[in-house]
Amino acid sequence: MLLTTKLMSPEFEYSTLAAPEDVNQLGKILDQCFIGSPGQEAIYINSIGLENFRIIRRDQQVVGGLAILRMGQWWGGQRLPMSGIAAVGIAPEYRGDGAAIALLQHALKELHNQGSPISVLYPATQYLYRKAGYEQGGSLCFWEMLTDSIQVKEQPLPLKSIASSNPQVFDEIYQQQVKLTNGYLDRHPAIWQRIVTTQEKETVFAYLIGTPDQPQGYIIFSQERTENGTILWVRDWAVLTVAAAQSFWSFIAKHRSQIDRVRWQSSINDYLTLLLPEQTAKVFSHKRWMLRLIDVSKALEGRGYPPGVQGELHLEVQDNLLPANNGKFILSVANGRGEVTSDGRGELQLDIKGLAPLYTGLFTPEQLQLTGKLTATETALLTATQIFAGVGPTMPDFF
Ligand SMILES: CC(C)(COP(=O)(O)OP(=O)(O)OC[C@H]1O[C@@H](n2cnc3c(N)ncnc32)[C@H](O)[C@@H]1OP(=O)(O)O)[C@@H](O)C(=O)NCCC(=O)NCCS
Repeated sequence: MLLTTKLMSPEFEYSTLAAPEDVNQLGKILDQCFIGSPGQEAIYINSIGLENFRIIRRDQQVVGGLAILRMGQWWGGQRLPMSGIAAVGIAPEYRGDGAAIALLQHALKELHNQGSPISVLYPATQYLYRKAGYEQGGSLCFWEMLTDSIQVKEQPLPLKSIASSNPQVFDEIYQQQVKLTNGYLDRHPAIWQRIVTTQEKETVFAYLIGTPDQPQGYIIFSQERTENGTILWVRDWAVLTVAAAQSFWSFIAKHRSQIDRVRWQSSINDYLTLLLPEQTAKVFSHKRWMLRLIDVSKALEGRGYPPGVQGELHLEVQDNLLPANNGKFILSVANGRGEVTSDGRGELQLDIKGLAPLYTGLFTPEQLQLTGKLTATETALLTATQIFAGVGPTMPDFF
């Protein structure tokens, strides 16, 4: 594949990554971009697969690239194919000339042609990604508390230590939990590998909660000694029952003689903390990931909706990059599913960026209207509120 674009004045060429010298060059650029040690990004490139990288050239020189992680994301109880974008990097001497935006725009056009409905990424700068049609879609929260203040003593279930090397065991439990949470991933194998693999001096500990033949959850963690005390880092967790949730806490509390603090990833409304006697758990970091609708019809039809809601939303969407998303659409929702037809009255008007937080439910239609992201009639606002209602979208994986 070789596509050429002229953006501003310089000429960029977009292509797949194959030649060993290009792999080498991209690895060096990404090492420098992400402040990695030499060769670190080459390992990353191989773990994701060369075929999932795209590069941008100027005057035949590779000047940057990105990775496309093809996975799934859960929306309204349905798994939607999702293209995660990662490792966007441009060599410093080529920055500021439109290389990154050209790379993103080409990648989005390619993904649209392939039928990918949505894309998600973690932004180092929102400005660049907004320019490509992404907007805030959901959150990732890091929580922390003193192990001494957990104070959950009851442990209804046993915990069984198991080897962490096989993600399949955990994935089966994980899949049962995540279907109900908007934004959770059907994870890329590289994300699972990062969770279960020991890095440098860390040991990864993994436990099933409940009996091995009927597990009700799991916890995967590592321990760290820092200048400010000892930390138990929960790399991943799942609890399917209240007994598993109680056992999760009491098990962690049993580390309190040596471990000062526990950290875990969850949503801003982390329901695990409801089991704690006091509000001693605190969010210590909060990031918002961004989402782009690549194919409006496929994205709206592929997700699920609240089962009791029935309604028709007349949208008018503007997308300057992907013309197929431009225009009027009717979203008809019934029995938890949506159907999209073209035309209609265009009663809720927004650009492709505004559609992202509406789609994910990160903000209500009223909030989006108040911040200038959409304009709508009273009736359309009410219908959109019912259709896109849901628990705050969250995704505990960084990529
Ligand atoms: C971020 C990065 C990819 C931008 O590359 P670039 O080729 O300079 O970006 P572009 O020239 O295509 O910029 C496109 C637009 O984004 C803006 N932009 C680019 N980097 C930005 C930044 N760090 N902060 C704010 N705006 C930025 C540009 O001003 C431009 O907007 P304009 O056309 O309205 O002036 C590059 O600085 C980089 O590789 N950084 C290190 C790695 C990194 O942080 N990657 C992002 C990971 S999510």
